[in-house]
Amino acid sequence: MYYTKELVQKAIEAKSKALPTYSNFHVGAAIITEQDKIYQGANIESSSYSLTICAERTAVFTAIVEGERKFKSIAVAGDTDDYLPPCGACRQVLSDLCGRELDVILVNKNGENKTLKLKDLLPYSFGEDFLKK
Ligand code: THU
Repeated sequence: MYYTKELVQKAIEAKSKALPTYSNFHVGAAIITEQDKIYQGANIESSSYSLTICAERTAVFTAIVEGERKFKSIAVAGDTDDYLPPCGACRQVLSDLCGRELDVILVNKNGENKTLKLKDLLPYSFGEDFLKK
């Protein structure tokens, strides 16, 4: 995808915006809309640890409140040897808000990356269809 390099760069840049007070584990994310607008996110932690929010959800929620509804891809960057995968909670939220065709770009500490479809990261998932009577 022509925008992958820029999206990866924005996710790496977003790591510096994190507030990982307790874990010191910096994560950055960048999501791109169908109109090629990019929104960044980073993890923000709470002293009540479970209230922490991940970088991916910060990015998509920021885009949503700006009125965005259609997304092509999200990049997630960490200072990790391996490509950083989104947690289970973020996979569910991305599935609900971005759809199962979303491309998820996993980025390691060297900026190397690989792309997976959300449907492959979260197979056989729950979703709004199950809520319909
Ligand atoms: N974290 C993310 O922001 N995204 C992920 O995909 C994995 C985990 C954050 C949450 C917490 O602030 C820290 O990393 C350690 O779990």
